[in-house]
Amino acid sequence: MRYFAEKIVFPNKNTLDCIVIPIFEQYKFSKIFKKINDISNNYILNILEKNNIKGKINQNIILYKIPNVLCNTIIIVGCGIKNSLNREKNKLIINNIINIIKKYSFKEIYWYLTDLKIDNCKLYWNIRDTINIIEDNIYSFDKFKKQKLFFKSKIKFVITDNNKNVYFSAIEHGKAINLGIKKAKNIANLPPNICTPKYLSLKTEKLTKQYNNISVEIINEKMMQKIGMNAYLSVSKGSKNKPYISIIKYQTNNKLQPIVLLGKGVTFDSGGISLKPSKNMEDMKYDMCGAAAIYGTIHAIAKLNLSLNVIAILACGENMPSSNAYRPSDVIKTMSGITVEIKNTDAEGRLILCDILTYIKKYNPKYVIDIATLTGACVIALGNNISGLMSNNKRLSKKIIKASLEADDRVWELPINDKKYFDQLKSNIAHLVNSNNGVAGAITAACFLSKFATKYKWAHIDIAGTAWYYVNNQAMASGRPINMLCQFLINQTFHNK
Ligand code: BES
Ligand code: ZN
Ligand code: MN
Repeated sequence: MRYFAEKIVFPNKNTLDCIVIPIFEQYKFSKIFKKINDISNNYILNILEKNNIKGKINQNIILYKIPNVLCNTIIIVGCGIKNSLNREKNKLIINNIINIIKKYSFKEIYWYLTDLKIDNCKLYWNIRDTINIIEDNIYSFDKFKKQKLFFKSKIKFVITDNNKNVYFSAIEHGKAINLGIKKAKNIANLPPNICTPKYLSLKTEKLTKQYNNISVEIINEKMMQKIGMNAYLSVSKGSKNKPYISIIKYQTNNKLQPIVLLGKGVTFDSGGISLKPSKNMEDMKYDMCGAAAIYGTIHAIAKLNLSLNVIAILACGENMPSSNAYRPSDVIKTMSGITVEIKNTDAEGRLILCDILTYIKKYNPKYVIDIATLTGACVIALGNNISGLMSNNKRLSKKIIKASLEADDRVWELPINDKKYFDQLKSNIAHLVNSNNGVAGAITAACFLSKFATKYKWAHIDIAGTAWYYVNNQAMASGRPINMLCQFLINQTFHNK
């Protein structure tokens, strides 16, 4: 879809294609409803009464050729009790409208819902939510299908008062962020025979041609060997697909300390020698969703030309069993010098991430945020709608929580500052174990990472539960937490000023 903000006054001169207007329960009407109903001499109200339509959520009606109203189609949308909307209900309402709109091919849709009063949600956020919900609804992954779906309608948010600038900035942000989300979904949904670490490195190299201010550096297996990234390297040893790291530098201002974003990009996690059970193993193509989110975020911020320095790192590899694979009981010397006893080859994400956490010290980062589908334990703890947040810095985690509440892309902070968690990481023969079958798996994984995330402010976001969801029993990438990350970065541009 395409999005615009426009001012129109009824009765208008030209015939409009389609307008969407809200009604509320107890016959409390919006201004626009009253106006159009008046022009039609109560024709609309009569129809609503005859059909017992009271404005409940999920009660919608499509009307054509209303007397005196120059509009082909009017979609009247039930919005429940006036002034009792929240973001969740608004999502239901918008999905209802889009499910109607998808069946037709309106050229232009005049949208009268962005000025609805919603709890804890200002106009700006209503517009951004609306664009998110629409884009999420119409997304389909049809690369391998004959039939491809396109929705090219123009959605025109009708400006009702003089807050043009709010509309313009919300539309600009919403469009860029949803471009990023779509790019991330498109790579995350790819099968692992196509979306290999090499494929992702080529994808990131193309960014330099698409945007200004971006340069890309690729680290291949040989270079990793040279600098001693042995933990990273061990994960891909069993795979014929070689590991690649993409370092994307987005730089607009050489005075600023960079924010480093790091994404786990395991293109398929079979578990390795500690093989996973076959049930749902196919979902492990999504074990690169952290990297996909970072990739999408770069698209969004480059599109918005945010005044920031961001170093975005996609840490890619494939975890497979073979006679070359690393094994439980191997001892590995990480880039930092810390030695790790492998107890479980399925705890591979932390091995890939730990060497990068060492590598990035040279950038003197302002903040480091890693995004990873790291632990099944995080799904047990928080479920499928809230990502896990763990950090070594209270101020950073507060900023992330703020952005997540604003963007309605939720996170919940879990503690890592307790010695008992670190006790679980002790090894008899090395400095650390990579896993110990213990309790609080999401937290102990973060504690492992924290041993490497020294000398800078760091946060870890476990998206194992939120990176994808199921529709009709089929998995689909969610694009999370791009909305939150972009909001964090947008907020960061204000701090720079
Ligand atoms: N990629 C998985 C985590 C995962 C599991 C994400 C399910 C999404 C859904 C990760 O590499 C993994 O296998 N973690 C193990 C860690 C354990 C061996 C300590 C896990 O969670 O079981
Ligand atoms: Zn994994
Ligand atoms: Mn694993």
